[in-house]
Amino acid sequence: MSNNIIWHSHPVDQQTRASQKSQKPLVIWFTGLSASGKSTIAGALEQILSHQGYHTYLLDGDNVRHGLCSDLGFSDQDRKENIRRVSEVAKLAADAGLITLTAFISPFRADRRIAREILPEGQFVEVFVDAPLDVCKQRDPKGFYARAERGEIKQFTGIDSPYEKPESPEVRIDANRLSVTEAVNQLLAYLDQSGVLKAGYQPLAVSA
Ligand code: ADX
Repeated sequence: MSNNIIWHSHPVDQQTRASQKSQKPLVIWFTGLSASGKSTIAGALEQILSHQGYHTYLLDGDNVRHGLCSDLGFSDQDRKENIRRVSEVAKLAADAGLITLTAFISPFRADRRIAREILPEGQFVEVFVDAPLDVCKQRDPKGFYARAERGEIKQFTGIDSPYEKPESPEVRIDANRLSVTEAVNQLLAYLDQSGVLKAGYQPLAVSA
């Protein structure tokens, strides 16, 4: 960064923007293997929050890589840069007063820690979508695991690129056992306990 850049404080701040929306801004950071269910669960949670009148924004790995990060691949360095950019965008979205959800593999602990540290205290919720590698390989909705195992895709997370599990996430979702609805209920309960939900919550009906 240039030495000659000085931060300019503006009169309208995060608190002003958040109170206009009557909500507590935060970043709900989903991490987990490809096909663990991050995007699906994040999308379902966003839908419920949005229906309840919260102002939200979801940043999704597959989508962000079509634009903001279309110049990046899957080397360790590129993933680090991907997560750095997304962390900064998530911070801006939270600064705009939004409940911000992110769904990226985000395989490295150090990068997730930076995402946490650049936010105001208490505004980062790490959600580990924990699905065993074997289950993700079986699901393989895009056929990427099969291609990676044949050597057609290099540096695929879980095959020939590492995933560092979170050590103390705020929420761990047992994605092998829970349905999407159950996972969303677990998250709503957490957000309720954290004082994020204004009028409490009714658990969604879980079909048998
Ligand atoms: S991250 O590691 O930089 O956080 P990100 O979440 O943006 O990854 O993108 C992951 C998505 O890209 C996967 O869900 C998958 O669809 C696709 N993808 C393509 N190549 C790879 C790869 N080598 N490793 C992991 N995911 C890949």
